[in-house]
Amino acid sequence: FHVDIDASDTDKGTYPYYMLKEIDEQPNVMRKLSAEYLNENGDPVIEDDLLDSIKESDRLYIIAAGTSYHAGLVGKELFEKLAQVPTEVHVSSEFAYNMPLLSKKPFFIFLSQSGETADSREVLVNLNQLGYKSLTITNVANSTLSRESNYTLLLHAGPEISVASTKAYTAQITVEAILAKALGESSEVKAAKDFNLKQQLGFVATGMQSIVDEKEMINEISKKYFVNANRAFYIGRGIDYFVSLESSLKLKEISYILAEGFASGELKHGTIALIEENTPVVGIITQSNTAGLTRSNLEETMARGAKAITIATESLAKDNDDIVIPDVDQLLTPLLSVIPAQLLAYYTSLNKGLDVDHPRNLAKSVTVQ
Ligand code: AGP
Repeated sequence: FHVDIDASDTDKGTYPYYMLKEIDEQPNVMRKLSAEYLNENGDPVIEDDLLDSIKESDRLYIIAAGTSYHAGLVGKELFEKLAQVPTEVHVSSEFAYNMPLLSKKPFFIFLSQSGETADSREVLVNLNQLGYKSLTITNVANSTLSRESNYTLLLHAGPEISVASTKAYTAQITVEAILAKALGESSEVKAAKDFNLKQQLGFVATGMQSIVDEKEMINEISKKYFVNANRAFYIGRGIDYFVSLESSLKLKEISYILAEGFASGELKHGTIALIEENTPVVGIITQSNTAGLTRSNLEETMARGAKAITIATESLAKDNDDIVIPDVDQLLTPLLSVIPAQLLAYYTSLNKGLDVDHPRNLAKSVTVQ
């Protein structure tokens, strides 16, 4: 079963904007990654030299910017829970000038759709001079970060044209999951051996399709609560907090609404003062150990006039939830919970009459520091 996303596929076809096309391509990207990286038994096919290099290390450092940084936050969960490898995640531009105390045997992973982000390249040049080993996970073969690091894993997502990154984000998380499973299995970690990634990625692809098929419902929510909003919040805990950060960036960068992704338990320590009448607050609820807490944090915002909107997985959903997404392994829910947020940003930008693919002041690849 081979899904071929035509590499020369840079034509919008019938789509009004590349962003919607790239959102719709995500189920196929999941199938493509499964076909590229998992054998027929569902075992990851990752070069031994890369696995050995990481196994010789005592700590992983994920270095990235923007959306890729948000994919790195999810990657930390995957590497720590499936491979039991301690992992830190750093924004490239911070790490370059404020390097933390490194472990004795660090290994570095660069996440970058373009493979050209100057902030990340600067870190890599420095690390190479220090003699450290690194892997680049990127959508562009032979990109600078790929050429200058020791190893490369490709996202196989096909060209991502729209400035707002969508399919690269979900592809990055998927490649991190594949690598984490490979690492865990090679170290006999039970969680990795028990993790049926091939089956899960099939569920994810199907789940993504069901969400993008309901895109009109998301458009209605955008028109009702977001088009005239002057601010918005996404809140969640743990993995749902990391998706809140990505969700708010999507909304900010193409609809220009000031949006914050916030740890839901932290809101009451000050930021909740920004909640006004009808401020949209989206709660992301996919983790069973924090679902109830985030729901009560949402109620706190509603008491201050917020319009609460929920994105919940089926098993955690309540009758009046606005967006219910299919269940997948709790480590992979970002692959589904981000889709409604991608669509909310898309439709809000569209409904505001903005140029979705070319937001003001932004470039697809930030090659300046
Ligand atoms: C995401 O929607 C933005 N376009 C931006 O934050 C982007 O993720 C960031 O500039 C990093 O780009 P890269 O993945 O190509 O390194």
